[in-house]
Amino acid sequence: MRIALLLLLTAAACGKGPTASTSPVQPVGADRTAGLAAFETVRAVLQHPRCQNCHPAGDAPLQGDDGHVHNQNVQRGPTGNGMVGEECSTCHGPANPPSAYGLHVPPGNAKGWHMPAPEMKLVFVGVAPGALCEQIKDPARNGGKDMAALRTHLDDPLVTWGWAPGFGRAPVSTPRESFLAAWETWAAAGAPCPN
Ligand code: HEC
Ligand code: HEC
Repeated sequence: MRIALLLLLTAAACGKGPTASTSPVQPVGADRTAGLAAFETVRAVLQHPRCQNCHPAGDAPLQGDDGHVHNQNVQRGPTGNGMVGEECSTCHGPANPPSAYGLHVPPGNAKGWHMPAPEMKLVFVGVAPGALCEQIKDPARNGGKDMAALRTHLDDPLVTWGWAPGFGRAPVSTPRESFLAAWETWAAAGAPCPN
């Protein structure tokens, strides 16, 4: 009788095991491997020129596929909207100009073209994969966003612009659906970061 009870208790305890371990703070094994592979897809998008030109280490935005420093001495300014008298919106309108305008016109955006503010620079250029991963999910450095808010941000017009950057500019090379699928895989695996 006692032995039977003991076996029953043991079985119950064992049954609890897998349930308790499904909230992975530190993802392990297959989950972590899949998550890390998915993050590599995410990283390649974040560090594509269409994205990282607004996320530089310095205070000038970058231009083109070679990421050269923005012409006309354009600067981030006190809020990310440029310097007084040379705001981003002076040249960048609410939408991409029509293709008929030709090459080298300033792209536009419904949200208002700007870069991150100086106190929260969100640097993507030249940051190692592990550090980039830690930075984007750190609320102290990403504008207080948790994983859900970050996912919402991926539908932000400044982000979606990367796949519709206007005439003569190459869109982000990873299809947007693949990027979003990789993001979901990474998040579901507990958003692991490479070492
Ligand atoms: C026109 C400039 C601009 C472009 C282009 C741009 N961003 Fe951003 N990004 C910003 C600004 C500004 C913020 C800060 C939040 C805000 O003001 O909307 C930001 C914030 C972010 C954040 C949230 C903060 C963080 O680091 O976790 C992510 C993620 C992000 N951008 C990803 C992208 C991706 C992916 C692309 C390209 C597909 C892109 N951005 C292109 C300006 C830009
Ligand atoms: C004097 C006009 C002018 C101002 C002011 C200006 N831009 Fe630009 N910007 C341009 C032009 C023109 C282009 C297109 C250059 C090209 O395609 O060769 C451009 C392109 C860009 C690009 C490159 C997009 C890409 O991926 O190739 C980014 C990023 C950018 N601007 C950010 C900004 C930000 C941020 C501000 C404000 C801090 C700003 N610009 C202010 C004229 C301006």
